[in-house]
Amino acid sequence: MKFDFSEKTILITGATRGIGMRLAEDLSLLGANLLLTGTNPVQIKDLNDLAIKKGLKRKYFCVDLQDRASMESFILALKSYSVIDGLVNNAGINRLNPVTDALESDWDDMVQVNLSAPFRLIKVLSASMIRNGYGRIVNIASIFSTISKERRAVYSATKFGLHGLTVGSSNDLARYNILVNTLSPGFVMTDLTRKNLSAIERAQLAEQVPIKRLAEVQDISNVAIFLLSDFNRYMTGQNIIVDGGFTNV
Ligand SMILES: NC(=O)c1ccc[n+]([C@@H]2O[C@H](COP(=O)([O-])OP(=O)(O)OC[C@H]3O[C@@H](n4cnc5c(N)ncnc54)[C@H](OP(=O)(O)O)[C@@H]3O)[C@@H](O)[C@H]2O)c1
Repeated sequence: MKFDFSEKTILITGATRGIGMRLAEDLSLLGANLLLTGTNPVQIKDLNDLAIKKGLKRKYFCVDLQDRASMESFILALKSYSVIDGLVNNAGINRLNPVTDALESDWDDMVQVNLSAPFRLIKVLSASMIRNGYGRIVNIASIFSTISKERRAVYSATKFGLHGLTVGSSNDLARYNILVNTLSPGFVMTDLTRKNLSAIERAQLAEQVPIKRLAEVQDISNVAIFLLSDFNRYMTGQNIIVDGGFTNV
Protein backbone atom coordinates (compact mmCIF):
# COMPACT_ATOMS: atom_id res chain seq x y z
CA MET A 1 0.00 0.00 0.00
CA LYS A 2 1.40 3.37 -1.00
CA PHE A 3 -0.23 6.79 -0.89
CA ASP A 4 -0.23 8.42 -4.32
CA PHE A 5 -1.84 11.82 -4.89
CA SER A 6 -0.19 12.54 -8.25
CA GLU A 7 -3.58 12.56 -10.01
CA LYS A 8 -5.31 14.58 -7.28
CA THR A 9 -6.01 18.26 -6.77
CA ILE A 10 -6.63 19.22 -3.15
CA LEU A 11 -7.73 22.51 -1.60
CA ILE A 12 -6.62 23.28 1.96
CA THR A 13 -7.76 26.45 3.73
CA GLY A 14 -5.32 28.02 6.19
CA ALA A 15 -2.22 26.33 4.78
CA THR A 16 0.33 29.02 5.62
CA ARG A 17 0.95 27.81 9.17
CA GLY A 18 0.31 24.99 11.63
CA ILE A 19 -1.64 21.89 10.71
CA GLY A 20 -2.59 23.12 7.23
CA MET A 21 1.01 23.87 6.31
CA ARG A 22 2.26 20.44 7.47
CA LEU A 23 -0.51 18.70 5.53
CA ALA A 24 0.27 20.72 2.40
CA GLU A 25 3.96 19.78 2.57
CA ASP A 26 3.13 16.09 3.10
CA LEU A 27 0.62 15.98 0.24
CA SER A 28 3.13 17.77 -1.96
CA LEU A 29 5.69 15.01 -1.29
CA LEU A 30 2.99 12.51 -2.31
CA GLY A 31 2.54 14.29 -5.65
CA ALA A 32 -0.65 16.32 -5.10
CA ASN A 33 -1.54 19.45 -7.00
CA LEU A 34 -2.42 21.93 -4.26
CA LEU A 35 -4.68 24.95 -3.91
CA LEU A 36 -3.83 26.66 -0.63
CA THR A 37 -5.01 29.73 1.26
CA GLY A 38 -3.70 32.30 3.72
CA THR A 39 -4.60 35.87 4.66
CA ASN A 40 -1.38 37.86 4.30
CA PRO A 41 -1.00 39.26 0.73
CA VAL A 42 2.77 39.75 1.03
CA GLN A 43 3.29 36.21 2.30
CA ILE A 44 1.01 34.80 -0.41
CA LYS A 45 2.95 36.60 -3.13
CA ASP A 46 6.28 35.33 -1.74
CA LEU A 47 4.94 31.77 -1.48
CA ASN A 48 3.66 31.85 -5.07
CA ASP A 49 7.00 33.24 -6.31
CA LEU A 50 8.83 30.47 -4.45
CA ALA A 51 6.47 27.80 -5.82
CA ILE A 52 7.11 28.99 -9.39
CA LYS A 53 10.87 29.14 -8.81
CA LYS A 54 10.96 25.62 -7.38
CA GLY A 55 8.44 24.21 -9.89
CA LEU A 56 6.05 23.14 -7.15
CA LYS A 57 2.52 22.02 -8.11
CA ARG A 58 0.75 24.53 -5.89
CA LYS A 59 -1.03 27.86 -5.98
CA TYR A 60 -1.70 30.09 -3.00
CA PHE A 61 -4.78 32.32 -2.76
CA CYS A 62 -5.14 35.29 -0.44
CA VAL A 63 -8.54 34.79 1.21
CA ASP A 64 -10.09 36.19 4.35
CA LEU A 65 -12.85 33.73 5.17
CA GLN A 66 -14.42 36.35 7.46
CA ASP A 67 -14.92 38.72 4.59
CA ARG A 68 -17.84 38.16 2.24
CA ALA A 69 -16.26 39.93 -0.77
CA SER A 70 -12.99 38.02 -0.35
CA MET A 71 -14.93 34.76 -0.12
CA GLU A 72 -16.99 35.61 -3.23
CA SER A 73 -13.94 36.25 -5.38
CA PHE A 74 -12.28 33.07 -4.07
CA ILE A 75 -15.36 31.02 -4.96
CA LEU A 76 -15.37 32.57 -8.41
CA ALA A 77 -11.71 31.61 -8.88
CA LEU A 78 -12.45 28.04 -7.76
CA LYS A 79 -15.16 27.69 -10.39
CA SER A 80 -12.47 27.71 -13.08
CA TYR A 81 -11.20 24.34 -11.79
CA SER A 82 -13.23 21.51 -13.29
CA VAL A 83 -11.70 18.93 -10.95
CA ILE A 84 -10.95 19.38 -7.27
CA ASP A 85 -10.74 15.95 -5.66
CA GLY A 86 -10.23 16.90 -2.05
CA LEU A 87 -11.20 19.71 0.30
CA VAL A 88 -9.76 20.31 3.75
CA ASN A 89 -11.63 22.92 5.74
CA ASN A 90 -8.75 23.63 8.09
CA ALA A 91 -8.64 27.39 8.72
CA GLY A 92 -10.02 28.18 12.13
CA ILE A 93 -9.94 30.82 14.83
CA ASN A 94 -10.42 30.58 18.58
CA ARG A 95 -10.96 33.61 20.79
CA LEU A 96 -11.28 32.57 24.41
CA ASN A 97 -13.86 34.23 26.64
CA PRO A 98 -16.48 33.10 29.14
CA VAL A 99 -19.90 33.15 27.49
CA THR A 100 -20.83 36.10 29.71
CA ASP A 101 -18.06 38.22 28.15
CA ALA A 102 -18.00 36.86 24.61
CA LEU A 103 -18.35 39.67 22.11
CA GLU A 104 -20.97 39.60 19.39
CA SER A 105 -18.18 40.32 16.92
CA ASP A 106 -16.22 37.27 18.15
CA TRP A 107 -19.32 35.14 17.66
CA ASP A 108 -19.78 36.48 14.12
CA ASP A 109 -16.10 36.04 13.18
CA MET A 110 -15.80 32.53 14.60
CA VAL A 111 -19.05 31.43 12.95
CA GLN A 112 -17.87 32.89 9.62
CA VAL A 113 -14.43 31.26 9.61
CA ASN A 114 -15.12 27.99 11.43
CA LEU A 115 -18.58 27.17 10.12
CA SER A 116 -19.98 29.34 7.30
CA ALA A 117 -16.84 29.15 5.12
CA PRO A 118 -16.73 25.31 5.30
CA PHE A 119 -20.44 25.19 4.39
CA ARG A 120 -19.94 27.46 1.38
CA LEU A 121 -16.87 25.58 0.16
CA ILE A 122 -18.58 22.20 0.51
CA LYS A 123 -21.59 23.54 -1.37
CA VAL A 124 -19.50 24.90 -4.24
CA LEU A 125 -16.98 22.06 -4.56
CA SER A 126 -19.46 19.23 -4.13
CA ALA A 127 -21.15 20.30 -7.40
CA SER A 128 -18.02 19.46 -9.42
CA MET A 129 -17.23 16.44 -7.22
CA ILE A 130 -20.69 15.06 -8.05
CA ARG A 131 -19.99 15.55 -11.78
CA ASN A 132 -16.67 13.72 -11.36
CA GLY A 133 -18.12 10.96 -9.16
CA TYR A 134 -15.36 11.41 -6.60
CA GLY A 135 -14.56 13.55 -3.57
CA ARG A 136 -12.93 13.45 -0.17
CA ILE A 137 -13.77 16.21 2.31
CA VAL A 138 -12.13 16.63 5.72
CA ASN A 139 -13.40 19.19 8.20
CA ILE A 140 -10.85 19.99 10.89
CA ALA A 141 -12.82 20.48 14.10
CA SER A 142 -11.41 19.88 17.59
CA ILE A 143 -12.02 17.80 20.68
CA PHE A 144 -14.24 20.80 21.47
CA SER A 145 -16.65 19.38 18.90
CA THR A 146 -17.48 16.67 21.45
CA ILE A 147 -16.69 18.19 24.85
CA SER A 148 -16.07 21.73 26.07
CA LYS A 149 -14.28 23.71 28.72
CA GLU A 150 -14.39 27.18 30.32
CA ARG A 151 -14.07 30.03 27.81
CA ARG A 152 -14.80 27.81 24.80
CA ALA A 153 -18.58 28.22 24.43
CA VAL A 154 -18.42 30.02 21.10
CA TYR A 155 -15.55 27.94 19.71
CA SER A 156 -17.36 24.75 20.76
CA ALA A 157 -20.59 25.94 19.20
CA THR A 158 -18.82 26.35 15.86
CA LYS A 159 -16.96 23.03 16.10
CA PHE A 160 -20.02 21.02 17.23
CA GLY A 161 -21.77 22.72 14.29
CA LEU A 162 -18.96 21.80 11.93
CA HIS A 163 -19.36 18.13 12.79
CA GLY A 164 -23.10 18.52 12.23
CA LEU A 165 -22.24 19.82 8.77
CA THR A 166 -20.05 16.74 8.23
CA VAL A 167 -22.80 14.33 9.22
CA GLY A 168 -25.50 16.04 7.17
CA SER A 169 -23.30 16.48 4.10
CA SER A 170 -22.08 12.89 4.27
CA ASN A 171 -25.68 11.71 4.04
CA ASP A 172 -26.30 13.82 0.94
CA LEU A 173 -23.02 13.05 -0.83
CA ALA A 174 -22.13 9.40 -0.09
CA ARG A 175 -24.07 8.11 -3.10
CA TYR A 176 -21.70 10.10 -5.37
CA ASN A 177 -18.55 8.58 -3.83
CA ILE A 178 -17.93 11.79 -1.88
CA LEU A 179 -16.87 10.92 1.64
CA VAL A 180 -17.02 13.61 4.32
CA ASN A 181 -15.37 13.26 7.71
CA THR A 182 -14.43 15.39 10.68
CA LEU A 183 -10.90 15.19 12.05
CA SER A 184 -10.77 16.46 15.62
CA PRO A 185 -7.32 17.18 17.06
CA GLY A 186 -6.59 17.43 20.75
CA PHE A 187 -3.99 20.00 21.80
CA VAL A 188 -1.50 20.53 18.97
CA MET A 189 1.70 22.56 19.20
CA THR A 190 0.87 25.41 16.79
CA ASP A 191 0.65 29.22 16.93
CA LEU A 192 -3.00 28.89 18.00
CA THR A 193 -2.03 26.83 21.06
CA ARG A 194 0.99 29.01 21.92
CA LYS A 195 -1.33 32.04 21.84
CA ASN A 196 -4.05 30.50 24.00
CA LEU A 197 -1.99 28.53 26.54
CA SER A 198 1.09 29.55 28.52
CA ALA A 199 4.16 27.27 28.59
CA ILE A 200 3.18 26.16 32.12
CA GLU A 201 -0.39 25.41 31.04
CA ARG A 202 0.92 23.43 28.05
CA ALA A 203 3.20 21.35 30.32
CA GLN A 204 0.34 20.69 32.76
CA LEU A 205 -1.90 19.70 29.91
CA ALA A 206 0.69 17.32 28.45
CA GLU A 207 0.71 15.50 31.82
CA GLN A 208 -3.05 14.94 31.52
CA VAL A 209 -2.77 13.36 28.07
CA PRO A 210 -2.32 9.56 28.30
CA ILE A 211 0.43 9.73 25.62
CA LYS A 212 2.13 12.37 27.87
CA ARG A 213 2.75 14.97 25.21
CA LEU A 214 0.81 17.46 23.13
CA ALA A 215 0.20 16.51 19.52
CA GLU A 216 2.58 17.50 16.77
CA VAL A 217 1.18 18.72 13.46
CA GLN A 218 2.51 15.51 11.89
CA ASP A 219 0.15 13.44 14.08
CA ILE A 220 -2.82 15.23 12.56
CA SER A 221 -1.51 15.32 9.00
CA ASN A 222 -1.00 11.54 8.97
CA VAL A 223 -4.68 10.91 9.67
CA ALA A 224 -5.86 13.58 7.24
CA ILE A 225 -3.82 11.92 4.48
CA PHE A 226 -5.64 8.63 5.01
CA LEU A 227 -9.04 10.35 5.01
CA LEU A 228 -8.19 12.17 1.74
CA SER A 229 -6.79 9.10 0.04
CA ASP A 230 -8.29 6.31 -2.05
CA PHE A 231 -7.61 4.01 0.91
CA ASN A 232 -10.58 5.57 2.63
CA ARG A 233 -13.34 3.77 0.76
CA TYR A 234 -16.09 3.27 3.34
CA MET A 235 -15.70 5.77 6.17
CA THR A 236 -17.99 8.78 6.04
CA GLY A 237 -19.83 11.04 8.47
CA GLN A 238 -17.42 10.19 11.30
CA ASN A 239 -15.63 12.32 13.86
CA ILE A 240 -12.09 10.98 14.13
CA ILE A 241 -10.58 12.17 17.40
CA VAL A 242 -6.79 12.42 17.44
CA ASP A 243 -6.04 13.51 21.00
CA GLY A 244 -3.55 11.03 22.50
CA GLY A 245 -6.45 9.60 24.53
CA PHE A 246 -7.25 12.88 26.32
CA THR A 247 -11.04 12.76 26.02
CA ASN A 248 -11.18 9.24 27.50
CA VAL A 249 -9.61 10.15 30.84
N1 LIG B 1 -3.72 23.97 17.42
C1 LIG B 1 -4.53 23.19 18.11
O1 LIG B 1 -4.23 22.78 19.25
C2 LIG B 1 -5.85 22.76 17.54
C3 LIG B 1 -6.60 21.86 18.28
C4 LIG B 1 -7.82 21.46 17.77
C5 LIG B 1 -8.26 21.95 16.59
N2 LIG B 1 -7.53 22.83 15.89
C6 LIG B 1 -8.08 23.33 14.63
O2 LIG B 1 -7.16 23.05 13.58
C7 LIG B 1 -7.25 24.05 12.58
C8 LIG B 1 -5.87 24.62 12.30
O3 LIG B 1 -5.34 25.11 13.52
P1 LIG B 1 -3.82 25.57 13.69
O4 LIG B 1 -3.52 25.47 15.12
O5 LIG B 1 -2.98 24.90 12.69
O6 LIG B 1 -4.00 27.13 13.35
P2 LIG B 1 -2.91 28.29 13.13
O7 LIG B 1 -1.53 27.79 13.32
O8 LIG B 1 -3.42 29.43 13.94
O9 LIG B 1 -3.13 28.60 11.57
C9 LIG B 1 -4.38 29.02 11.15
C10 LIG B 1 -4.45 29.06 9.65
O10 LIG B 1 -5.76 29.55 9.29
C11 LIG B 1 -5.62 30.77 8.56
N3 LIG B 1 -6.64 31.74 8.96
C12 LIG B 1 -6.81 32.33 10.15
N4 LIG B 1 -7.83 33.21 10.10
C13 LIG B 1 -8.30 33.17 8.84
C14 LIG B 1 -9.31 33.86 8.14
N5 LIG B 1 -10.06 34.80 8.73
N6 LIG B 1 -9.52 33.59 6.85
C15 LIG B 1 -8.76 32.67 6.23
N7 LIG B 1 -7.77 31.98 6.82
C16 LIG B 1 -7.55 32.23 8.11
C17 LIG B 1 -4.23 31.30 8.90
O11 LIG B 1 -3.77 32.15 7.88
P3 LIG B 1 -2.64 33.27 8.18
O12 LIG B 1 -1.34 32.54 8.34
O13 LIG B 1 -2.65 34.15 6.98
O14 LIG B 1 -3.08 33.98 9.43
C18 LIG B 1 -3.44 30.01 9.04
O15 LIG B 1 -3.04 29.54 7.78
C19 LIG B 1 -8.26 25.09 13.10
O16 LIG B 1 -9.51 24.85 12.53
C20 LIG B 1 -8.30 24.83 14.59
O17 LIG B 1 -9.53 25.21 15.16
C21 LIG B 1 -6.31 23.27 16.33
